Amino acid sequence: MKFFVDTADTQDIKALAKAGLIDGVTTNPTLIKKSGRDFRDVILEICALIDGPVSAEVTSLAADGMIKEGRTLAKLAPNVTVKLPLTVDGLAACRELSSSGIQTNVTLCFSANQALLAAKAGATFISPFVGRLDDIHIDGMSLIEDIRTIYDNYNLQTEILVASIRSPNHIKESALVGADVATAPPKVIWSLSEHPLTKSGLDTFMKDWAETGQAAV
Ligand code: E4P
Repeated sequence: MKFFVDTADTQDIKALAKAGLIDGVTTNPTLIKKSGRDFRDVILEICALIDGPVSAEVTSLAADGMIKEGRTLAKLAPNVTVKLPLTVDGLAACRELSSSGIQTNVTLCFSANQALLAAKAGATFISPFVGRLDDIHIDGMSLIEDIRTIYDNYNLQTEILVASIRSPNHIKESALVGADVATAPPKVIWSLSEHPLTKSGLDTFMKDWAETGQAAV
């Protein structure tokens, strides 16, 4: 399973890329607002930091506007993935952009039928939001299982990009049900390597090593 980081903070992206922990980046208008920076500048900088897909979201609501924005965004860098909302217009724009070879990510997916429509529109990625479903007491991860089954039933190639991840458990469950990608905030990705027994075990090894009086080879 690939890991994308869900942020527009280039310092966080730089650090995670240096550690080799990420394969791509997702952004959205809220994350761009949080960065306090110009949309194009941030996307250009992120695309230069990482070779993998970088999702940049359109803000038009009508298909024509989305297609125009999508073509402009795709020209910024070869790894731009155009992010489109799961609406009838978003699906029409997805069909048009995908058929001209532009990578697409259909976002704000909350049902299996929506995911089926996105795949039929040729989406490169579908982004089901597990955390926001959990927030309203609907099991987000069972949606991922349903989409996996449906896509496998029809050999649909759209990649399942689990979004709105809130915890390391969401990542583990995504991998268990066979998601293709998980996008998560930086702190969740950093926390994946942590375990209290790793820490206490290493502390003991370092203490015992120091007591041998030997130097590192
Ligand atoms: C995904 O592409 C979205 O940007 C993101 O995962 C939304 O997460 P949130 O529900 O925590 O805002």
